[in-house]
Amino acid sequence: MLKKLETEKLLPVLVIENAEDAVPLARALLAGGLSFAEVTFRTAAAAQSIRRIAEELPQITVGAGTVLSVEQANAAVEAGARFLVSPGFNPAVVKEAARLGVPIFPGCITPTEFETAMAFGIKIIKFFPAEQAGGVDFLKAVSGPYPELKFIPTGGINAGNLGQYLALNCVLACGGSFMAPPKLVAAGDWDGISRLARKAIA
Ligand code: 3PG
Repeated sequence: MLKKLETEKLLPVLVIENAEDAVPLARALLAGGLSFAEVTFRTAAAAQSIRRIAEELPQITVGAGTVLSVEQANAAVEAGARFLVSPGFNPAVVKEAARLGVPIFPGCITPTEFETAMAFGIKIIKFFPAEQAGGVDFLKAVSGPYPELKFIPTGGINAGNLGQYLALNCVLACGGSFMAPPKLVAAGDWDGISRLARKAIA
């Protein structure tokens, strides 16, 4: 799965208000050439959305984002999430991911956080919020001492700055809502989402 993510390089962050939208949205991403989906636990529909995608679209590698608690980690994996993402480094959630046997990409931005994550065996970090923290230059500088770490920058990334992040050796993939903006999801603009997926790939 990690190899596939490294090749595909794009991790769409999804905010789904209505579980009915989950499968059409994931289909739109597939039609646009993407096969990863991070469904965030920012809405009550998250677990149900993950379940529907996992059951109906096995071609999609579905995971859970904004995982803030051990309970959410369990609900996500039970629904079919194959990876977990969190905005910060939560030791209890990281331990639970290991117990559940799924990879977790915890959000870290500073050397101290990187080293804390490394002490827990983490090698892939969500660099969040990427742009607001200092962007490509900051990531270049801060990642220097840690050649064993790979990053998934997320936060403020779009088709315009994506290429600069992906050009860094330390970047495994980039995440973001720019491939499936909540506005287009709410409007059911699936063709628009496929177009944005293609644009990101291009
Ligand atoms: C996330 O949940 O990872 C971020 O909110 C995504 O950030 P973006 O909306 O700026 O892409």
